[in-house]
Amino acid sequence: MSIKAEEISALIKKQLADYKDELSVDEVGTVTYVGDGIARANGLDNALSGELVEFQNGVFGMAQNLESTDVGIVVLGDYKGIREGDTVKRTGRIMEVPVGDALIGRVVNPLGQPIDGLGEIKTDKTRPVERKAPGVMERQSVSEPLQTGIKAIDALVPIGRGQRELIIGDRKTGKTSLAIDTILNQKDQDMICIYVAIGQKESTVREQVETLRKFGAMDYTIVVSAGPSEPAPMLYIAPYAGAAMGEEFMFNGKHVLIVYDDLTKQADAYRELSLILRRPPGREAYPGDVFYLHSRLLERAAKLSDELGGGSMTALPFIETKAGDVSAYIPTNVISITDGQIFLDSDKFYAGVRPAIDAGTSVSRVGGDAQIKAMKKVAGTLRLDLASYAELESFTQFGSDLDEATQAKLNRGRRTIEVLKQPLHKPLPVEKQVVILYALTHGFLDSVVIDDITKFQDGLFDYFDNNHKDLLDEIKKTGQLPDTAKLDAAIKDYADTFQASNK
Ligand SMILES: Nc1ncnc2c1ncn2[C@@H]1O[C@H](COP(=O)(O)OP(=O)(O)O)[C@@H](O)[C@H]1O
Ligand SMILES: [Mg+2]
Repeated sequence: MSIKAEEISALIKKQLADYKDELSVDEVGTVTYVGDGIARANGLDNALSGELVEFQNGVFGMAQNLESTDVGIVVLGDYKGIREGDTVKRTGRIMEVPVGDALIGRVVNPLGQPIDGLGEIKTDKTRPVERKAPGVMERQSVSEPLQTGIKAIDALVPIGRGQRELIIGDRKTGKTSLAIDTILNQKDQDMICIYVAIGQKESTVREQVETLRKFGAMDYTIVVSAGPSEPAPMLYIAPYAGAAMGEEFMFNGKHVLIVYDDLTKQADAYRELSLILRRPPGREAYPGDVFYLHSRLLERAAKLSDELGGGSMTALPFIETKAGDVSAYIPTNVISITDGQIFLDSDKFYAGVRPAIDAGTSVSRVGGDAQIKAMKKVAGTLRLDLASYAELESFTQFGSDLDEATQAKLNRGRRTIEVLKQPLHKPLPVEKQVVILYALTHGFLDSVVIDDITKFQDGLFDYFDNNHKDLLDEIKKTGQLPDTAKLDAAIKDYADTFQASNK
């Protein structure tokens, strides 16, 4: 048997090449410190930032701080089973979560593991939790509405598919309720919803899941929850995990609504783990890259170009303020990253104006392009009506004789506020919103007593359901306002009988 020198050298070269490869993947380090959800290890010289590492006992971690002598690792799971001196292995992968249809209807933790007791989730698809956001060429501008079913939002601060709209307000101002009701309204709207609960009490999340289930919304919803008792790293990665699950659908041409409830708690978790990792604290003790924490997350919301299937992911990040202070560090950061904000005001909330949306400070910078034509027409003057009402109201408090025009403006303003109130779990289809707002802006409610407005409204919807389904269907199908003569006649018929029966 003859052996060729070249063959041998080729073999040796190949072995050497493979050997190196194996070494870099399987590189093993030693834990030198563990506590508070983080660990330090040395020997992981080639670890990459964000890389998944595996501890001796099978718990995973994510490499965060790469220093000259050691690596700071956030532990994804229970850190109490890890000891100093344990080995920790590189995996060569970055963290991934299971994705796909199998997750729909389930409640999972940020690792994608079920926490609803409904058994295993069978999917072989995974996606990295962190991913670069789609670039400029991969996107197109927002052009389709995302109907929240909430009059005050759809009329005044409309949201488009692919948009990022911040919902901001103090605790107990109805933020979470807005999210739940918006999800309820996505039934039959060809939308997959992901509700990411960050640091929310498990009992609260459970209640919300029950509500979603009761209204049939779990058929198209995934809930990702990292409770307050979970280690900080789990709260930190929860929104990225949710985004990864959403991207799977978006890149397959579907439409996704993702709610991050709330990013204040995520920022706090990130601050906690950064401080333990001994990163230098900056303003309000947050690390210097806390802006990037939220910007890289929210940039992943997109309306994809037609070449990429035209899917979308709409993000509703939540921020909880203290005493309405929107100028604190985290709120101003997130305001600057999003395409607008919906501000919930606790004074309004306690005065019974619910949802407590403050029309003066709430804006949507892109959604207007996505509003259906009919809604655009009827909602056009609403914002002005509300603004001039607010102005007049503060004047007229001091009482004095009011001229007729002022009185009329006050009347209209009061009725506008009344019409925009909405009870919990009663999202309203856009065609009905158009009808009531048309009635309002064309003066049909001016002579209705304020206390009767809810009754008038409910009756009007029943009347249209029973007698003018064609008009409702027309708005729904064409997006246009029907023949106004017909609309006027129908509303007048109803208003006359309403007034007669209320005499
Ligand atoms: N439109 C509404 N009508 C009546 N009650 C509401 C409305 N929105 C919220 N609530 C009630 O207000 C409370 C606080 O709401 P929640 O959504 O939990 O606020 P947040 O998430 O801002 O803390 C809840 O008990 C909820 O039932
Ligand atoms: Mg809440």
